[in-house]
Amino acid sequence: MSGSLFQPFAIEQYMSENEHAVKYHFAESGVHPLTYSELFELASIDTDSLFATLVDYPQVNGIQSLREKIATMYEGTTAENILVTIGASEANTLVAAAMLNPGDNMVRFRPTYEQLSGNASNLGFEVRSVDMIESNDWALDTDALKQAVDYRSGIIHVVNPNNPTGRILSQSDRDAVIAAAANCGAWIVADEVYAGTERDSDEPTASFWGDYDRVIAINSMSKAYGLPGLRLGWLVAPVPVIEDCWRRHEYATIAATMFSMKLADAALEERAREKLRARAQLLIRRGFETFTAALDEHPGVFSVVPPQASAMSFVKFDLPVKSDEFARRLLKEEDVLVIPGSRFGVEDHFRFSSALLEDHLKAGLSRFNSLVERILAGQ
Ligand SMILES: Cc1ncc(COP(=O)(O)O)c(C=O)c1O
Repeated sequence: MSGSLFQPFAIEQYMSENEHAVKYHFAESGVHPLTYSELFELASIDTDSLFATLVDYPQVNGIQSLREKIATMYEGTTAENILVTIGASEANTLVAAAMLNPGDNMVRFRPTYEQLSGNASNLGFEVRSVDMIESNDWALDTDALKQAVDYRSGIIHVVNPNNPTGRILSQSDRDAVIAAAANCGAWIVADEVYAGTERDSDEPTASFWGDYDRVIAINSMSKAYGLPGLRLGWLVAPVPVIEDCWRRHEYATIAATMFSMKLADAALEERAREKLRARAQLLIRRGFETFTAALDEHPGVFSVVPPQASAMSFVKFDLPVKSDEFARRLLKEEDVLVIPGSRFGVEDHFRFSSALLEDHLKAGLSRFNSLVERILAGQ
């Protein structure tokens, strides 16, 4: 679609237009990824048998062993409840197309990753926003949630843990979401790609799956497992919903690749999965310490509600520049990429990803601080 009604995906556009030539890429949302050889070793992948695979179309809804393995992660499911997609991205796109009917609206939280809501809006559906409150550690405005939801609300979209804030819904916010959905029979679509990236707890964030009968849970290999290049995700849903999404998947992509499905299958073996998550958590915890130590070099300028999960921090700044200008100068003058808060509809903020290799992170942060010093000196 082109023309004035089309709404581009603001943060992904910002990244895809700027990320390839940049030296210090702090705009991603995942941890530093593995190399293929690291993955093969960590997951004990037998390359002879992998390389003997035909470069053919795989089973369209996902190979059986992978769907069975994913099903073990969601209580009460079987492989029939799983559809394998090209990343969580495709899952979000399919759900927007499959689960809303003419006249429906959808409710999402703000700030958020706008993949599902952007798709819904581009399909002509009304999108209602409910704020998360920064001064309350990004808790939900539950009164606004009650007001936003009505009998035409087809979906309540939850990104939990949240992008960009790293907030994990408290039990009372979670209960409020379920109560609001149950009131009008809406689906809760829970994008859970950051589950397993907890920074201040060893307890993985619980899925919404099983908490309410109309839940679609979405996840992928991209964040907690550090394997975004596999482009491998999934959705978990009651069988009729899986079938509706599968029909759209045949139009959109037919299938994920066999290669990625086999690698994901190996990476989700329990031992490999635990090693990948431990690796991600180490990078996340260490990176956040390094990042906040660098911000502390300018007392009073930056403040951040510490993310409970994810590799990202959504940082508030007090500088005489707007977020677009700050990000533009970082890129042009220091070869550093961050996402301006404007791309999430929140001024005076930027999103920074710090679960990276330590030397690279430190070198980029020193560039970041050079620009901050110049701005503070009025340059
Ligand atoms: C909340 C959220 N959902 C989905 C995606 C897309 O993930 P994938 O790489 O699995 O397509 C991202 C990527 O940043 C994300 O932050």
